[in-house]
Parts: sequence; C-alpha cells; structure tokens
Amino acid sequence: MQLTGNFPKGFKYLPGYFSHEEQRELVETLRYLVKESPLFTPVMPRTGKPFSVRMTNLGELGWVSDRNGYRYQSEHPETGQAWPTIPEVLNDLWSRVGECEAVPETCLVNYYASTAKMGLHQDRDEKTFEAPVVSVSLGDTAVFRLGGVKRGGPTQSLKLNSGDVVVLGREARLCYHGIDRILGGSSSLLKDGGRLNLTLRRVSAF
Ligand code: SIN
Ligand code: FE2
Repeated sequence: MQLTGNFPKGFKYLPGYFSHEEQRELVETLRYLVKESPLFTPVMPRTGKPFSVRMTNLGELGWVSDRNGYRYQSEHPETGQAWPTIPEVLNDLWSRVGECEAVPETCLVNYYASTAKMGLHQDRDEKTFEAPVVSVSLGDTAVFRLGGVKRGGPTQSLKLNSGDVVVLGREARLCYHGIDRILGGSSSLLKDGGRLNLTLRRVSAF
C-alpha cells in the first residue's frame, strides 16, 4: 500500500482508472498511431545527449527536444508529417478529470524501455499553466518522484501501475516530477515490455 493522503493540493492520483480491457484497446490504438508517427529519440539541447526515453506526439502540437532547445511544433521531426489526432478516449479522460474548459492540444507519448528514466523537471514549455497535465501509465510499473514547485524541496515516491492516471493541476501544475526507474517485467500489457506514458496538455492560452 502507498500513502495517498499527503499529496500537494491540485495533484490527483487515480489508481486503476482504466480497466485491463480499456488498457488493451488503448494500446491497440496507440500501436496503429505509432506506425503513422514513429517513436524518435530526442536529444538534449546543446549537448546533443540522447534521452533514454523514445517519444512521439498526438494532437495539433507536439513537444520536441533537439540541439536547438525544447519546443512545440506541428510536425514530426523525422517524417515532417502532422501528428495524428488525439483519440477520443483521451479527450474524454481530459474532460472527466482535467477540470478545464479548453480542449487538450497535445499528447506526448513516451516509451520507457526497462532501463529508461526521466530526471526531475517541471513541465513549463507551455504558454499557459491554467490547464492541467493529465498523465496515463501503461505497461510496466514506474517509480514516479513528485516534489513541490520549488527546486530542491522535499520529494516523495509513488509507484505508477498500468492503468493509473495522474493529474498535475492548479497549485500542483508546476510541481517537479520524474521517473526514477521502471520495474521491468511487472506488466504483460506491452508485448515487448517497458512502459508507455501519455501526457495530455494544453499549450496555448485560452
Ligand atoms: C513526463 O514527465 O513527461 C513523464 C512522466 C511519466 O512518465 O510518468
Ligand atoms: Fe513532465
């Protein structure tokens, strides 16, 4: 059991939001979309060091990182094509849990092999922080680290299992967060193992 009472205001943890069957359908949909818009390996601004996660995007805009910096753009950096549309099931999730009148403009799809991780960071490349970040975990369990809005403050760790949803909204919108590690082999949802994380966001002001 994890303690679930002590989260920052505006942070929502919705364990098991998606049933196993819904997760399988979502993975099928994503498999199809990722064929159209393949996973790419982003690199760090300036240094060009590759990320350990691979990513792609859905929606009008997609988050990319390369030697020139982090930004949102409307085309896939390798194919030059527009990103595929966000599936209805994810728009529905946003309207149910997001407490936001505006629609999401992007869904970042991160794929973590069992050795991948993501350092503690804030999501702050958007033009508005009025809308939440809504995140879905699929596949292997991740050890998620959650801090406060200030760098260097106390953090807590939380296991995110397949089907769990997390919302960073309002006062928690700019909380630091990251992935310490993936528990390889903890789920059989993805046929090659690993974890998919989907993060729905609004980029423009509304
Ligand atoms: C992210 O911060 O972009 C991903 C978080 C996660 O994988 O749960
Ligand atoms: Fe993030």
